[in-house]
Amino acid sequence: MNMRTKEFTLPETETEAVTGAEWWRSAVIYQIYPRSFADANGDGIGDLPGITARLPYLARLGIDAIWLSPFYRSPQADAGYDVADYRVVDPLFGTLDDFERMRHQAHALGMKVIVDLVPNHTSDEHAWFQAALKSPPGSAARARYLFRDGKGPHGDLPPNNWQSVFGGNAWSRAPGDSQWYLHLFDRKQPDLNWDHPEVRAEFEDVLRFWLDRGVDGFRVDVAHGLIKAPGLPDWGGHAAMVEGAADHGNNTSPMWDQEGVHEIYRHWRRLLDTYPGERMMVAEAWIAPQARLARYIRGDEMQQAFNFDYLLAHWDAAEIRAVVDSSLAASAAVGAPTTWVMSNHDSVRHTSRYGLRKPGARPKGIDAAGEQPDEALGLRRARAAALLTLALPGSAYIYQGEELGLPEHTTLDARYRQDPAFFRTQGAEIGRDGCRVPLPWKADAPSFGFGPGEKSWLPQPDSFARYAVDRQDGVSGSTLELYRQLLRLRRDYALGTGLLEWQSAGSPDVLVFDNGTLRGVINLGMQPVALPRGTLLVASEPLETHGELPGNTAAWLTLS
Ligand code: NOJ
Ligand code: CA
Repeated sequence: MNMRTKEFTLPETETEAVTGAEWWRSAVIYQIYPRSFADANGDGIGDLPGITARLPYLARLGIDAIWLSPFYRSPQADAGYDVADYRVVDPLFGTLDDFERMRHQAHALGMKVIVDLVPNHTSDEHAWFQAALKSPPGSAARARYLFRDGKGPHGDLPPNNWQSVFGGNAWSRAPGDSQWYLHLFDRKQPDLNWDHPEVRAEFEDVLRFWLDRGVDGFRVDVAHGLIKAPGLPDWGGHAAMVEGAADHGNNTSPMWDQEGVHEIYRHWRRLLDTYPGERMMVAEAWIAPQARLARYIRGDEMQQAFNFDYLLAHWDAAEIRAVVDSSLAASAAVGAPTTWVMSNHDSVRHTSRYGLRKPGARPKGIDAAGEQPDEALGLRRARAAALLTLALPGSAYIYQGEELGLPEHTTLDARYRQDPAFFRTQGAEIGRDGCRVPLPWKADAPSFGFGPGEKSWLPQPDSFARYAVDRQDGVSGSTLELYRQLLRLRRDYALGTGLLEWQSAGSPDVLVFDNGTLRGVINLGMQPVALPRGTLLVASEPLETHGELPGNTAAWLTLS
């Protein structure tokens, strides 16, 4: 039975939804950012019951799996990437029973469930860190984190020169304490000591906890950061999430991509493989080149890694083609699938990035004082890009709202900002709030239907009305209907498990490729070009002149 064509019909047994050989190789995985997806109880923050209520929408979209950003107990200093208890659902999002209902319903609708695992750091409100603060230097409780004495005659200089990814020093001193602790992110996110056996044992147990509750996989946060170089040596580079990637060709950084991380993932893989149903892991690792990233997805490690080179590519045919080729080659070399990612909760939404003067540039947030993207052009390009991304062999990620063509909130007032990166850089980095704004479900409802009332943890721009689900549902040519159609065709033509073959394009701005009997063409230039031979299946914009593909438009044709 094909679950996607029988929407809202439950399979006879739950196992039907969770079997399937290496399903992750070609899966379309939809990222849910729980606090911004759907709010069931009206407190202005999305929650698990809100997700459950919207699962039929996702099943109808035609995705294979959902990945949920963290919903665990947390003081929310980094929107949940600061976990205080890995086995407890934060009351903001609901209860473990709510999770169980959501997971059960997702499986019943034929969708896998991937949860986030945050192993590099805990919250400073985690019981372990609280115990460490109350214990003296050199104590067993401190050994689970990276506490060090400071430099200088009184120890009041940080132990080394590392900077936090979010700006400022990577070391903080607990008040009244003689020692410093390392935090590659916010001071409320102390880094764990992964050389400590208790840390390893604890995370194996956390994995088991969620595997026992039926999750199909884990998205592993900061997968390249767990092990630090011995002695924590000074480093001249800057520990950025993205820009740092390029530095790592001959990895000089002492905090990223150390060899020791791999045995951890091998171990986890063996653990996952003791469970039935193809459980998987996907690495969040900002490293380059692709060959280094591919080491995380060798046969006995994780199954997937996010392809951030693809996310970072500019709107340029040669650059995109080169990234596609290098990604496919690097993952093929280790027998793993490639992933294709355009947006997530850490980057300006690609609809807006493609509307910048340098299309595809990735500013660290956009505010009213910054360059405002050309919204219509960005959307047009994003729709065309969907026809490239979803035609490529491998697994594709969709960030919630992408299927609506949702833009970044580019004029969010500073007083609403919550991203620690904004505060730690004194506003020099605008931060990631603009891509995290709650989704619009109904154009004419308070909070655009995000919740039952007015409340929304970040204000939504008026323009969101245009993108609301109810404005697009059933409307031919809407971005939502385009995504539904593409996902249906992707399945029918088995594009995710296919093979990519470039064809000559006749223009440097155009890419033409075949995947099985489907031919894709994307025109990244401004001028129309001739449409290749084939029967038109779908185009990202109406094709007004016969035989012609306008600028910033893509089409799928069939050769059969
Ligand atoms: C990557 C996550 O995607 C991001 O949101 C978070 O701030 C950092 N890791 C730290 O956990
Ligand atoms: Ca809520």
